[in-house]
Order: sequence, then C-alpha cells, then structure tokens
Amino acid sequence: MMHAKWGGVVPEIASRLHLETLPYLIEEAISDSGLSFKEFDAVASTVTPGLAGALLVGFVTGRTLAQLPSLPFLGIHRLEGHLASVHLSKEPPEFPYLVLLVSGGHTELIRVERDSQFQRLGRSHDDAAGEAFDKVARLLGLTYPGGPAIEKLAQTGDPKRFSLPKGRVSNPQGGFFPYDFSFSGLKTAMMRQVQTLQTERNHLPLADLAASFQEVVAEVLVERSVKCTLEQGLKTLVIVGGVAANMRLRQMMLDCASIHGIDLFMAPKTFCTDNAAMIGSAALMRLESIKCSSSIRLGVSPRWTLEQSHLLYQSPAPF
Ligand code: KG4
Repeated sequence: MMHAKWGGVVPEIASRLHLETLPYLIEEAISDSGLSFKEFDAVASTVTPGLAGALLVGFVTGRTLAQLPSLPFLGIHRLEGHLASVHLSKEPPEFPYLVLLVSGGHTELIRVERDSQFQRLGRSHDDAAGEAFDKVARLLGLTYPGGPAIEKLAQTGDPKRFSLPKGRVSNPQGGFFPYDFSFSGLKTAMMRQVQTLQTERNHLPLADLAASFQEVVAEVLVERSVKCTLEQGLKTLVIVGGVAANMRLRQMMLDCASIHGIDLFMAPKTFCTDNAAMIGSAALMRLESIKCSSSIRLGVSPRWTLEQSHLLYQSPAPF
C-alpha cells in the first residue's frame, strides 16, 4: 500500500517499513510454525543484490537471531532464491534445466546444473519485464504493482488490437543476441500509442492496450525461452519470479512447451512473490549440498553475480 502511494519502491521507506514490521513478522512466523527456535536448523537472509538499506535490515536481524542459539547463518543470493522457488512445488524438476527468471528487477535465462551451478545465457539490456509492466500500468493510470493490475484489465481486452514491437538486441558482430531481451522500445511504443489516441480525443481503450501489451511481452518471453531450451539440448524449462504469476504467460508457455516436447515446471503461483519462502528453499538446498554456512565476516552488497554465489560460503567473505 505504501509503495502504491508513490508508484514504486522508495528505498528509504522500504527499509524503514522492514525495520518496523520484521519483529512482528518473525514472532508470527515462529508461532505459526508451531516450532520452538531451538528446533530450527539454520537462519538465512538475502545479502545480495538489492537496495543496501533493506538488505541490511534483514541481514542484521537474521545474523543476530542465528547468533543467539549458535545456529548456522546463510547469506543467500536473491536470484538463487527465485530459482529455488520451483523446488517448493510438490514435484520439483530434475537437473539440468533452463530457468526463465522474470521479476521486477530481472529478466534472465539461466542454465542450472546440480549443486547450484549457474550459467546466464540471456538477459534484458534495459528494463526488466516486471518493470515494464509497472511503468506501462502507471501510463494507463493503474496502481502499483502494475503486473496484476494489467493482467486483470487485459481479461476483457483484445490482445490483437494494437501491433507492438518485440524488442531485440543487436549484436555488434552482426545479427541479434538470440536469448536477450529489450523492453524499452515496447514501453515507448505504448507511450506513443496512448499519446496518439489522446490527441485524437479518443476515449482510451484501456483493456485493449493492457491486453496487447501483455500479449507481446508473453510472446517474447515464450519464444526466446523455448528457443534457448531447444538449442541447449535441454528437456526441461522452469519459470520463476513475480511475472511468472501471470496467467496468460503461464498458459502460452504451457502450450508452446507441449508442442516442442519440453517439460515445463512453474513455481507455485503463491511462491512466485513470496521472498521469505524462496530464500528458505535456497538455504535448504545449500545446507544439503555444501553442508557449511557463511563466514561471520560476510556483509551485504547491492550487486553480485549469480555465477559467483558460491563465494558467499567461503572464507574470507567476498564483501
Ligand atoms: O519477483 P518479484 O516479487 O520482486 C522482484 O524481485 O522484483 O516481482 C515483482 C514484479 C513486479 O514488477 C510486478 O508488477 C510483477 O512482478 N508481477 C506481475 C504479476 N504479479 C507480479 N507481472 C505480471 N503479471 C502478474 N500477475
């Protein structure tokens, strides 16, 4: 609600809210679990990437909680949490597989091997898909977060009414990067479309605009993910992240994957945006595979690549 008021996340407000609500949240979560603190195996928190203030609140709280009964503490990479969200489903996928990670900050195609080995094969060169949903929602006068608002409006709209561009990223050596994304041109095209309709003094066909935008984003995500899966010789595709909650994207991905004989796994809808659950899932996988925790000297960092996330469990700590 606070973020909706400002049309997005304001870093200072976010960290203050985390600080105020975290004690109550922890108390409630422990009480709901029916466990006592002594029964926990470890404590984990996100340490990178993200807004430093918000990361620090969670990290200091988690580290302190772990120290009290001398539990292991694991600092988790935020994207590893997103990747682990699919392992909260009843039948998780088997390694190796390709993941389309679509959130408010990232749009990436990542090859995942056993034991938390990651290789990024595609990425957005400008806005993330979720960010594009949020900005276009604002343009259409909808509330934040934009994704669910656009999805709801699109239900009654015509997805073919407006023809919008599928952004591609040029390779300086010729052609295009096959698995990369660009959403800034699409955002500008939406802006121009709205301006044209407004100057013609037309009543804005909001549902058609929302549906056409959602359709082209879903098409781009599906086409590049399926191409990458096939060309990597993989049989399994996974989608995770806030945008993976979008039902049109889920349906389109399901249809295309089944045509190409690809097994599709989607993070359970509720876990696509449940950061606590996904970080817990990633911590559990790390505990099982590496059987060690993070160094006491580990801090937080606004940026860190997923490929280097194994360094979060080494000494000396990377940051
Ligand atoms: O993964 P997430 O909760 O946080 C980040 O790590 O960014 O993703 C939030 C993003 C927002 O941009 C939001 O608009 C988008 O996910 N989102 C959706 C839907 N639900 C959330 N986008 C499209 N359709 C949805 N149903």
